Amino acid sequence: MDTPKVIDGKAVAAQVLEECLSEAEALKAKGVTPGLAVVLVGEDPASQVYVGSKVKKCGELGFHSEKITLPAETSQEELLAVVQKLNADPMIHGILVQSPPPPHIDEEAVVRAIDPRKDVDGFHPENVAKLALEDPTGFVPCTPAGCIKLLEASGTQTNGAEAVVIGRSMIVGKPMALLLVSKKSNATVTIAHSRSKDLAAISRRADIVVAAVGRPEMVKADWIKPGAVVIDVGINRIEDASRKSGYRLVGDVDYNEVAPRCSAITPVPGGVGPMTIAMLMKNTLQAARQLSC
Ligand code: GUN
Repeated sequence: MDTPKVIDGKAVAAQVLEECLSEAEALKAKGVTPGLAVVLVGEDPASQVYVGSKVKKCGELGFHSEKITLPAETSQEELLAVVQKLNADPMIHGILVQSPPPPHIDEEAVVRAIDPRKDVDGFHPENVAKLALEDPTGFVPCTPAGCIKLLEASGTQTNGAEAVVIGRSMIVGKPMALLLVSKKSNATVTIAHSRSKDLAAISRRADIVVAAVGRPEMVKADWIKPGAVVIDVGINRIEDASRKSGYRLVGDVDYNEVAPRCSAITPVPGGVGPMTIAMLMKNTLQAARQLSC
């Protein structure tokens, strides 16, 4: 078990993006140019990178895109006004407000203000309900949707498998658990979190571990059943004086320790990260399709 299959997120994302490109062309031939608006409040460096990549990808696929950067002092009312304007803009099919916003912003209220038909993040309560109901007209949050694609691409059998999701966020943990337990995946799912009693023991039961806690290299070798499949959602910057940037990226999984024990694993970077953007493009196409017919 010491040569695990490394799941290549860049390659799987490239396939998804290729499909997106042909669907975008088909929509454009019908007179509909998919449009995405990305809103960033403040100057968080990681968020700036993510938002830049999302807008760049829109350009590569021929989507219309708008990047709206607002100062950190932007008020709740000003941000809500921007969202309302985008809700009413016929050129815009998808709206994304990058998370996390500055602390004075009520993120929940902002998410609720987005027209659910344009909520390509899948964070609006209407889309959360549709995910639970397995209604395909809803938007599935991009990162967990990408994790499911990676499991499929790696040939992982989810039917009847024991899956443990570590993390209970609305962005990844909870929607991931819903996707795994859905009638498409049929896994038996445990959601573990920072207050779970014995995280290592819970994780060790799993055939599939999804780590989404945001703690660098927390998942160690003895958390993993030999032969398990490991999906690492974490993207953590840790100091590294040997790098020009002064940091390097690591996941929530201690890759060097864990990789020899599992049958397949996603690397960081190059695993889940590229999938998030690819699925965002897919969701934007879904929004454009649904809004234009
Ligand atoms: N921050 C980290 N991931 C995401 C995401 O998928 N969507 C938004 N809006 N913000 C994020």
